[in-house]
Amino acid sequence: MIVCKSEREIEIMRKAGRIVADALAIAKEIAKKDITTEDINTRLEKYVLRQGGIPVFKGYRGYPKSICTSINEEVVHGIPDERKLREGDILSVDIGVEYRKYVADAAITIPIGVISKEAETLLEVCEEALNKAIEKTCVNNKLSEVSRSIQNHVESKGLSVIRDYTGHGIGRKMHEDPQIPNFVSKELLKADEILLRGMTLAIEPMICVGKYDTEVLKNRWTVVTKDRKLSAHFEHTVVVTENGAEILTD
Ligand code: MF3
Ligand code: CO
Repeated sequence: MIVCKSEREIEIMRKAGRIVADALAIAKEIAKKDITTEDINTRLEKYVLRQGGIPVFKGYRGYPKSICTSINEEVVHGIPDERKLREGDILSVDIGVEYRKYVADAAITIPIGVISKEAETLLEVCEEALNKAIEKTCVNNKLSEVSRSIQNHVESKGLSVIRDYTGHGIGRKMHEDPQIPNFVSKELLKADEILLRGMTLAIEPMICVGKYDTEVLKNRWTVVTKDRKLSAHFEHTVVVTENGAEILTD
């Protein structure tokens, strides 16, 4: 069941979204060669707590950290540790914050210094796909049109859409209905939804250079591409309004 939020609830989610956006801005500033992903986790966790927010990933199904940091072939759910970033890496930072019982969630992929042309294109296309999807997110549009816009854009550039993970509704919980796949399937079309005012959605294309197949590493969290080629991730939490989507996390 998809829960539409009231103006009062959306106002709280705007605040949660502001904390998320500011935390990601800090990540962008400090993610440099020789910094560890643990350093970024510590810094963002402190920031969120000081703002009166709760980092919701920590403790979620036993997840040990406040953010996810996924490097290069890692798609999502990379766990911050003492590994140092290197020139040419791409780093996805994903963070969810609860504020007064409401959650916002967003992610960006950050280039570390000078990156390859291939990596540059990957990041560019992933962010464009997210923006195109957000443009499709308005009252009376179908959810599948949001998914389709991501798939079309990514595949038109010769890149692949990850299929094993999806976006999601968000609000009182981090994961609410509906699931938001980044590609169109029979199942999606069968269970398609019309977007209504007040729906709050976390739209999150995860894309890659090679094949879309993934596997989970032995730490039981980190998702990588099977072919170990590069992957990128951008995410925003948005609310559906009469005149398109309002982004809550920028
Ligand atoms: N941002 C992720 C999502 O949207 C959640 C990370 S999983 C966690 O599904 F365990 F780290 F919380
Ligand atoms: Co999410």
